Amino acid sequence: MSYAPYPALRMRRTRAAAWSRAMHAEHRLSPADLIWPLFVTEGSAVEEPIGSLPGVSRWSVDGIVTQAKLARDLGIPCLALFPNTQPDRRSDDGTEALNPDNLMCRAIRAIKDAVPEVGVLTDVALDPYTAHGQDGLLDDSGYVLNDATVDVLIGQSLNQAAAGADIIAPSDMMDGRVGAIRDALESAGHANVQIMAYAAKYASAFYGPFRDAVGSSGLLKGNKKSYQMDPANGEEALREVGMDLAEGADSVMVKPGLPYLDIVARVKDAFGVPVFAYQVSGEYAMIEAAAAAGAGDRNALVLETLMSFKRAGCTGVLTYHAPLAAKLMTA
Ligand code: PBG
Repeated sequence: MSYAPYPALRMRRTRAAAWSRAMHAEHRLSPADLIWPLFVTEGSAVEEPIGSLPGVSRWSVDGIVTQAKLARDLGIPCLALFPNTQPDRRSDDGTEALNPDNLMCRAIRAIKDAVPEVGVLTDVALDPYTAHGQDGLLDDSGYVLNDATVDVLIGQSLNQAAAGADIIAPSDMMDGRVGAIRDALESAGHANVQIMAYAAKYASAFYGPFRDAVGSSGLLKGNKKSYQMDPANGEEALREVGMDLAEGADSVMVKPGLPYLDIVARVKDAFGVPVFAYQVSGEYAMIEAAAAAGAGDRNALVLETLMSFKRAGCTGVLTYHAPLAAKLMTA
């Protein structure tokens, strides 16, 4: 590519006026880009603020329905639900994930009854249900078993789909689970239930506040490095994505978000499929901490980071800032 030399070309010309900047913007943000993660807890009329996620609470099912209505009114198309399972319902094998009346299923049904026009995405992994906080079943040495875990994840997915989930999002990083879940959904008559694979999910230090929110941080011993990806790796993310697509994933996710925008761009370039990013709890907490410290303007930080996802190639973003962002986008 060759360009006219200065001063025939002045890059600042199109930036001089607001109308011109608006006209030349390569990407635009809309509430339709957002997926809003919400935490569910037992009880009624319960709101429990989460200390490490200032401004985010766990809600009992009735409160979740109120949030779902807010999402609809703000134009946010989809919610992602995560349960804070009661301690006495957690076990080494996480079988509460298979209970048709578990907290998650009750929340899905309540939302789909009250606000059917809002999409519900459900996380598939055992960590909110296991007594040890790992995403799968352990052998005697503490290793997370792949195939035995996939068998349970199939049951968890069918349970969520039967309750009305629109998108099944496996976040467990077991091998082969997307194909197994797709087969099971087809056989059970859930042909239109989507799969959004957490395809490139890294073993990240940015998940801390989330683990507080679902109550697994105190339980978790060790780390998740035997199944989540090494932050050093990019090529491997492309293989993960390719594998999940070959098994029938409708869309893929990169997680965390901002530290992995290079992965988003590479996945989009390589596959041209819908790519979502999860701006995770630690990223949210970082923005909130910066705003609280006077180190940046919250609204501007939120919109700039969300725009960076769009520029990198994202179809949409999971963010705890979704309601604020939706308001800012339509202001
Ligand atoms: C569960 C899961 C995690 C997140 C989403 N699903 C935590 C983990 O893998 O330990 C993290 C989301 C966030 O930090 O906001 N497998």
